Amino acid sequence: MTQTDPAFQNLLAEFQALHAREPALAGFATLPDSLTPQPIKPVRIPPAALMESDPDLTTTAYAAIRDAFIAAGAVAQWRLTYQGSRLGADFMDRFGCYCLIGEGGPFTCDGLAAYVVYMPAGLYYPFHQHPAEEIYFILAGEAEFLMEGHPPRRLGPGDHVFHPSGRAHATRTHDRPFMALVLWRGDLETAPVLTYPEGEI
Ligand SMILES: [Fe+2]
Repeated sequence: MTQTDPAFQNLLAEFQALHAREPALAGFATLPDSLTPQPIKPVRIPPAALMESDPDLTTTAYAAIRDAFIAAGAVAQWRLTYQGSRLGADFMDRFGCYCLIGEGGPFTCDGLAAYVVYMPAGLYYPFHQHPAEEIYFILAGEAEFLMEGHPPRRLGPGDHVFHPSGRAHATRTHDRPFMALVLWRGDLETAPVLTYPEGEI
């Protein structure tokens, strides 16, 4: 039997409560009544400390899940999605993501993955795409979201954006950081592919 860290159990409860009360999340995917725990190996990278100590992750109604994501960050398997890519070391040192439900996360279920994404102020996550459909639900701070064929949008707590399958998108923070809950459905196996032009960043 897998022993799940209490920080993850608390985070899962906050996630389930948020999912139940936010139509954007409930409409994106249904959650099974119980999720399967799985063992994970913690991985810590520099953005973990940035997220823990960032004073500007201000929020409205989402302080409890923001704090739960920060607390569980201490035992999470932070992702190395772009290690060795052309994004380079500075991006790797500042872009944070870990999984709550799915590969590398403490829980799993069919057809759905859930992550936290954190970016400090002044960071650009350039255009990329993936076959999974995706929703970003902003929990704290503020960021600008860019998507092929759409004008840029600045989003804050309680706002969300949907990225269709295969549609390139990007995120930029200005003078503030942001934290978002990110859900994937569909093809959960295929990793994101960077699509930004050479020399853009
Ligand atoms: Fe994405």
